[in-house]
Amino acid sequence: MGAYQPVHQQHSQKPSSTHHGRVVLAWLFTAVLCLALLHLLCCSPRAARGNVVVSPLLQYITSTYTEGRGSTSTSGCDYSEGQWVRAAGHARRYNGTECNVKGSEDCARNGRPDTGYLDWRWQPAAPGCQLPGFDAAAFLGAVRGQHVAFVGDSMARNQAESLVCLLGASFPYHLVYRDPEPGTRKFWRWAFPTHNVTVSVYWAPFLARATGRCDNYSLPYNSVHLETLADRWSADAGAMDVAVVSTGHWFWNPSVYYNGSEVLGTHLLPQLNHTGIGFLSPFREAIRASIRRLASAGRARAVVLATFSPAHFEKAWDDPATCARRMPYTEGEREVDATHAQLRSIVREETTAAAAATDGGATRVEVLDVTKLATMRPDGHPGVYMKRDPFARGVPERLQSDCLHFCLPGPVDTFNEILLQLLLAKRD
Ligand SMILES: *[C@@H]1O[C@H](CO)[C@@H](O)[C@H](O)[C@H]1NC(C)=O
Ligand SMILES: *[C@@H]1O[C@H](CO)[C@@H](O)[C@H](O)[C@H]1NC(C)=O
Ligand SMILES: *[C@@H]1O[C@H](CO)[C@@H](O)[C@H](O)[C@H]1NC(C)=O
Ligand SMILES: *[C@@H]1O[C@H](CO)[C@@H](O)[C@H](O)[C@H]1NC(C)=O
Ligand SMILES: *[C@@H]1O[C@H](CO)[C@@H](O)[C@H](O)[C@H]1NC(C)=O
Repeated sequence: MGAYQPVHQQHSQKPSSTHHGRVVLAWLFTAVLCLALLHLLCCSPRAARGNVVVSPLLQYITSTYTEGRGSTSTSGCDYSEGQWVRAAGHARRYNGTECNVKGSEDCARNGRPDTGYLDWRWQPAAPGCQLPGFDAAAFLGAVRGQHVAFVGDSMARNQAESLVCLLGASFPYHLVYRDPEPGTRKFWRWAFPTHNVTVSVYWAPFLARATGRCDNYSLPYNSVHLETLADRWSADAGAMDVAVVSTGHWFWNPSVYYNGSEVLGTHLLPQLNHTGIGFLSPFREAIRASIRRLASAGRARAVVLATFSPAHFEKAWDDPATCARRMPYTEGEREVDATHAQLRSIVREETTAAAAATDGGATRVEVLDVTKLATMRPDGHPGVYMKRDPFARGVPERLQSDCLHFCLPGPVDTFNEILLQLLLAKRD
């Protein structure tokens, strides 16, 4: 455990963009990227470890906020814009192996040699705003006696596991349920008995009921029934006090969208001779229906919608250097992609509309806008360290990378820092 101390190593090596000079047609690249994403998004068959270790108290490393900007106001702050600034040890709050994170996101155990990606904190751009480091006692205090549920795709799971680790570094906990399907981590639930809190994750990548490729990777496309929400999470919606909805990546995949027996249209399936409807309107419909369900379930105190967190594949999907950056992008080096911005806007618009509609009611609807901060962190993904010791037998020419999820610990911990501030602000 003592090994988990801040290390002031600087790895500023960047992949050479001229290394592979070959020209890849844009559509081919996109198709391959789609396949890579599908492979990542589909449940990898790696078997889950049996026992959960109840973490002993890990030493907290107090972050030093040297770049004070006057007051340290937190409530009412806009965290959606800002920049990553160096803060030694800021993201070194737990050991991913000890809190049993998904093996493909346990970068340190898998042999990722650099650790500088753990030395950044998010500085909001809004004047007078600071984002405090995660405070487990404050979080559990804010949700005492409550059920915190994450619903969506594997980014929802990534954030749920981050939260369990952040809390578990200071408080005892145990796994109370995991889906029997080995290795998938679709439905897990943990308990924090000191505060009578449960944390769950519900895998529902389209939020709506879906079959096909999302169940079985060898099938060519998904069939998504937008009129019906996915069974498991929607049946439990009335038992969620805080619901964090986070999804998006699966909507880019080939799919047929239905409203009952009527085909609304297809995405990336021209051969079926239906109207192409793209993925933005189905995404909006799924988000809208999910908020409606959660807000009307009568239980939820907070419905939090996370915005899109993009992947960073920079070369061919199986190029070992496709996401080998070791530093966040600097301000101005990278903008939010137009498509990611559209997904982000849809979540913001639907959240704003729902918040206005539920104003004064028992349920708060909030946006957790992580698109910018996630966009700026190409260095935070497992990359080839999604597998253990990938270079044990030399550097292969082709190697699969995960440039989508974040290492745990890693930048996704910041999503939970913001979630905590949203929960605290709503008590005012
Ligand atoms: C995490 O914990 C495991 C098991 O206790 C230990 O072997 C490993 O060295 C720790 N990792 C770090 C980065 O401290
Ligand atoms: C724990 O919380 C549940 C609601 O989530 C409540 O029904 C129960 O009474 C609480 N138990 C204790 C011991 O406070
Ligand atoms: C997945 O689909 C393929 C092709 O239709 C089929 O042969 C296979 O049995 C399916 N696997 C499962 C687990 O349903
Ligand atoms: C589905 O059909 C119903 C009834 O015709 C309609 O009210 C609803 O707006 C439709 N939903 C979508 C997403 O088209
Ligand atoms: C789509 O239309 C083409 C051309 O009319 C036809 O050959 C093909 O069979 C149709 N496919 C389906 C799935 O209906």
